[in-house]
Amino acid sequence: MSSGEHETRCENARVNPPADTPLAAARTLQLRQPDDWHLHLRDGAALEAVLPYTARQFARAIVMPNLRPPVTTAAAAVAYRQRILAALPAGLAFEPLMTLYLTDNTPPDEIRRARDAGVVALKLYPAGATTNSDAGVTDIRKTRATLEAMQREGLLLLVHGEVTDAEIDIFDREAVFIDRVMQPLRRDFPELKVVFEHITTAEAAQYVAEAPGPTAATLTAHHLLYNRNALFTGGLRPHYYCLPVLKKERHRVALVQAATSGNPRFFLGTDSAPHAAAMKEQSVCGAGCFTAPAALELYAEAFEAAGALDKFEAFASLNGPAFYGLPVNEGRITLKREPWALPETLPFGDALIKPLRAGDTLNWKMCP
Ligand code: DOR
Ligand code: ZN
Repeated sequence: MSSGEHETRCENARVNPPADTPLAAARTLQLRQPDDWHLHLRDGAALEAVLPYTARQFARAIVMPNLRPPVTTAAAAVAYRQRILAALPAGLAFEPLMTLYLTDNTPPDEIRRARDAGVVALKLYPAGATTNSDAGVTDIRKTRATLEAMQREGLLLLVHGEVTDAEIDIFDREAVFIDRVMQPLRRDFPELKVVFEHITTAEAAQYVAEAPGPTAATLTAHHLLYNRNALFTGGLRPHYYCLPVLKKERHRVALVQAATSGNPRFFLGTDSAPHAAAMKEQSVCGAGCFTAPAALELYAEAFEAAGALDKFEAFASLNGPAFYGLPVNEGRITLKREPWALPETLPFGDALIKPLRAGDTLNWKMCP
């Protein structure tokens, strides 16, 4: 990553600043083009509305399969990939990395077909854990033969790590999941690459740092920036409601520590999850923070607050490809220090959507 002390204009952003420029004072940050290792793109008009934001910032993204109906077969993933590419604005290069939705009944022989179709991973949603997870896994033991096939074929397992039992407090569901599911999973499938998605607790950060076998985690910008107070500041704030839900400050601090530690097991995954504003602002609000329009800016804010801009490129652009066994991107992007206001609303098909921090001023801005 490089930085520039004096230039702020994008067209002149410095590529090779003086070596002694302190990053904390940098006016610009240049980094290898990042990827988003956890993203919801939806389908149809919603897909067309949100895809350009991600394609502008990221070269690739791991696309979540929780459509209605979910993407459960290689053929469905190929068709979804084609719809994504068809929705891509002319002139933007972007590679969707496809995933399948694991169910109790995913046939083991679908894994070979998935691999041959370019699918890179399967997503484990415990049934009932989150948006469109009804078809998810009711008991991970039912998926044993499929997980064995994944381990054999080299497909990754991406995990929504929360138990769903009604008697477990919603703020404890991730920590309990580690004991009940992650540890047995790691023991039984030592070679399987496992990504603990959007971790939200100190327990998960510690688990991932120490876990045996190929284990990693994605971290969202919102979990690095906010604790659970954000949900209740001056009233109930639906746009801060996501799953796993925001946690206490001590957890946020542990997540920032993990993201900025330089440990290659931690990398960027926005979990940008678009829902129409009218759907968020009703008596029952769906889970999801829409961060795609300013994803890198929000992460930069979190890294800067931690005094760790020097660790940002590894987190955003290097650690993910290394874990997935993919090449890093050749392109570069530039962020400059320039205040700008995020719009209050953005078009979302026939509806409107509110990005996280709508109307707020952000201090970093990605150069076009
Ligand atoms: O907040 C979330 N929104 N968490 C998830 O796990 C799913 C996502 C969505 O699809 O809206
Ligand atoms: Zn997600």
